[in-house]
Amino acid sequence: MTAELNRARRLLADAETVVSFSGAGLSAESGIATFRDPDGVWKKIDPTVYASAQGFRAHPTKVIEWYADRRRTLASTTPNAAHFALAQTSWHAHVTQNVDNLLERAGADNIIHLHGTLDSDRCDASCGFSRKVDLTDPPGEGTCPTCGAALRPSVVWFGEMLPSPAWAAAESAIRSADVVVVIGTSGEVWPAASLIDEASAVITVNTQPSGAGRRSAVELIGPAGTIVPRLVSADDPNTQ
Ligand code: OAD
Repeated sequence: MTAELNRARRLLADAETVVSFSGAGLSAESGIATFRDPDGVWKKIDPTVYASAQGFRAHPTKVIEWYADRRRTLASTTPNAAHFALAQTSWHAHVTQNVDNLLERAGADNIIHLHGTLDSDRCDASCGFSRKVDLTDPPGEGTCPTCGAALRPSVVWFGEMLPSPAWAAAESAIRSADVVVVIGTSGEVWPAASLIDEASAVITVNTQPSGAGRRSAVELIGPAGTIVPRLVSADDPNTQ
């Protein structure tokens, strides 16, 4: 690990522009379940019900209640050492698939949410209405005050387009980066994962070998909360 960590640090030291690209593993040590690990969310519940527009329209009460639980869990947790370490860097951007707000709460800047966020609702008919929600007291089912359609969490579900401003910002950040640090993602969900292939050089941090790891220059195996602070401390004098 030390040799690999040193190789990764050298890549970062030589890079002018660095971008992070994260997935659920970044927030796992904050107590938020990942999706595809053995105890992951999609091993317990059906994503076609809880993460698709069709599922929401067929079972709105179930879906809104599940999101209310996720929102309360998020409100009661805190960023972990990896979020804080990323927030201390001067990296150009933090592209994330995560719908939590833990990078924001750690103090990171320039966060690009590819899959939306839990802290707002939007109109299911896409009339343009959206509102912030209180994560400690999440709303139940509601209707859009503008057009009367149902309100739903502002997250991207399977089969839906990614928000185009976020996609454009992420693509531009990753294409202009000398190194992309890919943290805690299986790299299995397209189109987000395709961004990893746009990177000039990739360092991965993951508890196990991953699809993203196979496409990377350096693969660091271990928990993000341990590895990311070590990786960053040699890169950024502010954190030493
Ligand atoms: P996955 O659950 O697919 O992958 C999580 C990855 O994190 C796995 O490769 C784990 O090995 C790794 N991991 C777990 N704990 C870790 C830790 N403490 N430190 C480092 N790595 C760890 O989650 P994502 O790749 O984020 O989409 O999944 C991508 C998308 O699939 C999500 O954004 C979500 C889901 O369906 C939507 O909801 C649209």
